[in-house]
Amino acid sequence: MTARDLTGTVVAITGATAGIGRAAARQLVAKGAKVALGGRRAERLDELVAELGADNAVGVVMDVRVPADNARLVDAAVQKWGRLDSVVPNAGIGFYGGILDMTDEELAEMMETNYAGTVWTVRAAVPAMLEAGGGDIVIVSSVAGFRGGEDEAVYAGTKHAQVGFAGSLDRELRGKGVRVTLICPAGTATEFAVGAGRVEDDPRFADWLTADDVAHAVVTTLEQPRTLRTAIWTLWSMGQQS
Ligand SMILES: NC(=O)c1ccc[n+]([C@@H]2O[C@H](COP(=O)([O-])OP(=O)(O)OC[C@H]3O[C@@H](n4cnc5c(N)ncnc54)[C@H](OP(=O)(O)O)[C@@H]3O)[C@@H](O)[C@H]2O)c1
Repeated sequence: MTARDLTGTVVAITGATAGIGRAAARQLVAKGAKVALGGRRAERLDELVAELGADNAVGVVMDVRVPADNARLVDAAVQKWGRLDSVVPNAGIGFYGGILDMTDEELAEMMETNYAGTVWTVRAAVPAMLEAGGGDIVIVSSVAGFRGGEDEAVYAGTKHAQVGFAGSLDRELRGKGVRVTLICPAGTATEFAVGAGRVEDDPRFADWLTADDVAHAVVTTLEQPRTLRTAIWTLWSMGQQS
């Protein structure tokens, strides 16, 4: 079995200004793919496009909670490269604490970004992916999508929602040539939740997954021959308790 060549494949990634999304963008471009990058921080997008090269990457300042913003991300890819093959709904946020510890605004932002944002991204991408003859939807969820964890009830709920969404989407789209995969990492050393339950240079990071570890799973999913698919890929570092 040989890996699929990703040269020229067009992939849209949300949450590309940091962590897993940015690492996936770098690894995909190193494999010859073209990437449309979404996130709210314009400066970060500009820096990443400059690093990857304007022939290989386009940045779109967007908020996944806004359906029209997701459509602009897809349009940017189609305008630049004439197609969209795959999408990586990855944008997400986490606030850690008890159900009474967070503000209404924090809880709403988490639910709207992690779950509704995923739905809006997929809905915007599917027509272009079908037009391209099929592709991959690779949703970055979490091991919190399968089990509750301490101080993350609402976050875990959003990640369970992504799992249910993906399972049903697979049944809907597989016959049309679209594979749906969930990437479910355990704790990963990124900016995620820093100031909201985690701290910068958190001592736990030494034992955790890296953004590159998780990005590698995204890339490997896309590289699989189209005769098979990975539905759910859970990842832990060797030091993490599963
Ligand atoms: N780190 C972990 O321990 C861990 C473990 C399991 C799963 N995950 C999941 O992995 C995914 C990526 O997390 P990460 O660790 O890479 O976090 P990160 O380093 O904090 O990056 C999160 C990304 O999401 C973007 N984002 C947040 N809200 C957004 C919005 N409303 N619209 C558009 N983009 C938005 C951020 O960009 P802007 O701020 O520029 O918008 C940023 O690029 C998330 O879905 C997370 O739930 C993370």
